[in-house]
Amino acid sequence: MARIFSGIQPTGHLHLGNYLGAIRNWVRLQQEFECLFCVVDMHAITLWQEPEALAQATRETAAAVLAAGINPDTNILFLQSAVPGHAQLAWVFNCVARIGWLNRMTQFKEKAGKHRENASVGLYAYPNLMAADILLYKATHVPVGEDQKQHLELTRDIAQKFNNDFGVALFPVVEPLILGPATRIMSLRDGTKKMSKSDASDFSRINLTDSADSIALKIRRAKTDPNPLPDSPDGLEGRPEAANLLSIYAALTDSSIENVCQRFGGSPFSDFKQELADRAVAALAPITAEVNRLMADPETLDSILRSGAERARALAAPVLDEVYRAIGFLQT
Ligand code: TYM
Repeated sequence: MARIFSGIQPTGHLHLGNYLGAIRNWVRLQQEFECLFCVVDMHAITLWQEPEALAQATRETAAAVLAAGINPDTNILFLQSAVPGHAQLAWVFNCVARIGWLNRMTQFKEKAGKHRENASVGLYAYPNLMAADILLYKATHVPVGEDQKQHLELTRDIAQKFNNDFGVALFPVVEPLILGPATRIMSLRDGTKKMSKSDASDFSRINLTDSADSIALKIRRAKTDPNPLPDSPDGLEGRPEAANLLSIYAALTDSSIENVCQRFGGSPFSDFKQELADRAVAALAPITAEVNRLMADPETLDSILRSGAERARALAAPVLDEVYRAIGFLQT
């Protein structure tokens, strides 16, 4: 049976990339699939997080997922740290995955930067925990942005190696779902860099909590080039900022980059940016309002997360039993 798992880190405000690349797809997929959505607080601590800020960002991230339209009654929304099976299975996968596999992970190289020796062991083993998140529920489909593709390939390798090593058909082959025209939204300040929560400049991203004025200002200030917009996608070659803004517009209006080029070809960026800002505000304002409403009622939010964790633990327990039996851990 098809089952969806996806996760999001509570490391600061969510941005338009998280929304268009992931959460909006989750909202659409929840009609067709059984879904688990997880705020991955254990992944967050692979880099230093101030405890109070982590707690606040964890609630805000859960609120944003709900505000975007995830129904917590028909889906499971929960915190990773509330289900011990994630850490238990991750340990098993630490012993299945090979060091050579992890050495190839580009995200570790990016995040560790020049100070590799000083990075946490958790940051290095991060992809094993991610594989555990997914496989603890035998999830078959994982909706993510483009940047998670390599981690999902590793998840497949781990599942296959586990099945081979122990002669079982325990884990499914996971399919990534990288959907829509906005699978890799770039920074508004530099079209070659991913839009990210950790970028030092707040003008590089549109946060789901930004006011309408702030969204409009950030889009007005977004880097562009001096040429008018092209009338076909071919004209976006070598113009990363233009390509990025057009793909954001395409995603927000549920159309294709081709259509957007046809509509705005020859226009100056100023006209286009005004329309883009209107679309972005229209999409995000209701979400922001709902996040604020949910954040004012932490008891309700916490009880949704508690119920989600309970249901997740019930799904995880038999899978972990099966894994332990396959390995030869004595069941006493
Ligand atoms: P995270 O928290 O960085 O991002 C959450 C989701 O948002 C997508 N995303 C983007 N999509 C388009 N453009 C962007 N600029 C952009 N930035 C982020 C990400 O691809 C992701 O889908 N390792 C994961 C969290 C995770 C996970 C999992 C995901 C942990 N366990 C299991 C899926 C399944 C991460 O750091 O996402």
